[in-house]
Amino acid sequence: MKKSIFFIGILLLIASCDRSSLHKSWRTYRGDDGINAYSQLTQINRDNVDQLQVAWTYRTGDYTDFSKIECNPIIIERVLYGVSAKMKVFALEANTGKELWVYDPFEPGSKEGGFNRGLTYWEEGDDRRILVCAKNKLIALNAQTGKPFSDFGENGFVDLRKGLRNDDDFEKYDVSNTSPGVIYEDLIIVGSSLSENYEALSGDIRAYDVHTGKMRWTFHTLPRPGEFGYDTWSEDNYKNIGGANAWAGLSIDRERGLVFAATGAPAFDFHGGERKGQNLFANCVLALEAATGKYVWHFQTSHHDLWDYDLPTPPNLTAIKKDGIEIDAVVQMTKQGLVFTLDRATGIPIYPVEERAVPSSTMTDESTWPTQPFPIKPLPLTRTTFDESIITDISSEAHDFIKTEASKYSWGSIYQPPSLQGIIQLPGFTGGAEWSGGAIDRETGIMYVGLNDIPNIVQLVAVGNEMENLSGKPLIEVGSKIYNTKCTACHGEDRKGNPGFPSLADISKRMQPKDATNILKSGQRNMPAFTELSEEQLMAVVSFLFEINKNQTFQSDEPIGTTLAGKPMRYRIKAYKQLLDQNGYPGIKPPWGTLCALDLNTAEVKWRVPLGEYPDLVAQGIRNTGTQLFGGGIVTSGGLVFIGASQDEKFRAFDKETGEMLWEFQLPAGGYATPATYEIDGKQYVVIAAAGGGFQRTKTSDHYIAFTLK
Ligand code: HEC
Repeated sequence: MKKSIFFIGILLLIASCDRSSLHKSWRTYRGDDGINAYSQLTQINRDNVDQLQVAWTYRTGDYTDFSKIECNPIIIERVLYGVSAKMKVFALEANTGKELWVYDPFEPGSKEGGFNRGLTYWEEGDDRRILVCAKNKLIALNAQTGKPFSDFGENGFVDLRKGLRNDDDFEKYDVSNTSPGVIYEDLIIVGSSLSENYEALSGDIRAYDVHTGKMRWTFHTLPRPGEFGYDTWSEDNYKNIGGANAWAGLSIDRERGLVFAATGAPAFDFHGGERKGQNLFANCVLALEAATGKYVWHFQTSHHDLWDYDLPTPPNLTAIKKDGIEIDAVVQMTKQGLVFTLDRATGIPIYPVEERAVPSSTMTDESTWPTQPFPIKPLPLTRTTFDESIITDISSEAHDFIKTEASKYSWGSIYQPPSLQGIIQLPGFTGGAEWSGGAIDRETGIMYVGLNDIPNIVQLVAVGNEMENLSGKPLIEVGSKIYNTKCTACHGEDRKGNPGFPSLADISKRMQPKDATNILKSGQRNMPAFTELSEEQLMAVVSFLFEINKNQTFQSDEPIGTTLAGKPMRYRIKAYKQLLDQNGYPGIKPPWGTLCALDLNTAEVKWRVPLGEYPDLVAQGIRNTGTQLFGGGIVTSGGLVFIGASQDEKFRAFDKETGEMLWEFQLPAGGYATPATYEIDGKQYVVIAAAGGGFQRTKTSDHYIAFTLK
């Protein structure tokens, strides 16, 4: 008995030491277990923030035309750990930016790469580890040296593609993890990032031993026979449907021993005829026992999703003081601009939510869910229905252009079901909120969140039997069918590319057919590998791209299977497209991107300001439009909210009370990442990755820039 009291005493001591260093460091993704991106530091404050200057700049030296950095670095004591444009992991002296080590998770000279949003730190005595996911690998590095632990997983890594179904053909699947895992005791718990298409595997949440990499538990987000939720799908969907993955990461309540996940849509994103039902646990806030993965509760934010309304950010864990009573809460931001506030113990809404009737699909093979949940409070933070009254007014030319464009599609409800005619979807699938999520001020209960307000056009195209009876058809024709089903979403129907994705129109000027074949076989940075395509199918799509082998015909009489069940897919979308005017600006009235302060204790918006401007529009006198945003904000006791995110590539500080902008800095490239703040030797720093790119259509680079007072 005595012994255990002594141990508890020691534990409390350790816990309190931890807490004091916690407020000076930035030990986890988005600052704390509740991912609230809040810091108690006050040295940089309202009165002096205008004197911030660059303390150091670190360049990772490996950016490409299509790279990006979304990493929120972590700072442990005096060391900053981050990720480069090609996903190399590095450690720097956090006060000088001096490089301590770099680890490349890929083979030397490899064209692999990609992006992730950060990494995870674990320590026990002298054993200090950095756990990081690079594509399909979960790796454990020695935090002092950057050397991988060779006894972790198999051959020094856990292969995330394994353990999701029978592992005979695991190499065929695209399973990665773009958000850092969370630590619970000696477990690292991770979600996953998957294809959005019919070939996606299921998004199980998994826990691995931090010492050995051995899997300790798995939670099936697509329930199997006998598991709760199985009957919310068509029979056997767990075998032939995927998605429902927690790609945005997780949060953790150590006292309750609960891990919280926010899951994405089922795949394929925009048609659900083969997955009739409510589809649990897709689009859910999930509470699981952190030690065992056992189900505790769930709350579904869209039923039978047809809109790619993934939950884009892990649940925030905070307290809400409602009518004078403090309730431990889970706050879930959504792409729909809706905010769900749930009791952390039960999952029951704190501010009521009602199920409202929504339109039914006109597609005969769809089975729309008749209602969707709407919080009564807070009110939606973005516009949620498109109509002619909100068509852009930045010029009469833009207005007329959008009016004509809009007349081609149907619109009206936030849950307007996708169709062959096409819909205008508002909010679009880049939000509302995105992975950037919300920063919550522990002192006041105010949440600061960057929001997009830009519609998408979603148009279904039936592809079903196009992929059958191909034997004897010209190779180029088969190649164009493969291109249309597998490549258009990123590279465009016209092959001219999209923001973040290269044009393939003039590919023959840049490479040989065999180079393109290799890229398709093994993937390249953010381009997935197409391991499911046979040699002949690869030859067909490459022949189409390079306009070669014109006289050859396709030999195979097998239909081209592109679903998990090996069947031809039924639908695709025409393109990942936004409703944009003739000059590329969003088709509704500004603001298109705002920073919003929401008081969670009253469920009222405290202030809201447009975030970012377009220089070309400013030159025409059109100001305060806001721009599309990617990258989170942080809030400090110094009274400040720091946020990059805007397409004008600026990093800004706002007065958290009033929303007044107090400081701005022109970055060398867009700061499309979440900043971090920390203190070393009595000096406070704020750091942000500035690497541009991604969906933002602005130049790429490879900077991490830290700021401090003179
Ligand atoms: C999920 C989005 C995505 C899909 C789907 C996709 N690609 Fe790509 N692709 C990319 C990205 C991103 C790059 C740039 C990669 C890099 O950083 O080098 C790329 C690059 C390429 C390149 C090299 C271009 C260059 O100039 O270096 C080729 C060729 C290519 N893709 C062909 C295809 C084909 C053919 C398909 C369909 C079978 C396809 N891609 C599907 C995202 C995609």
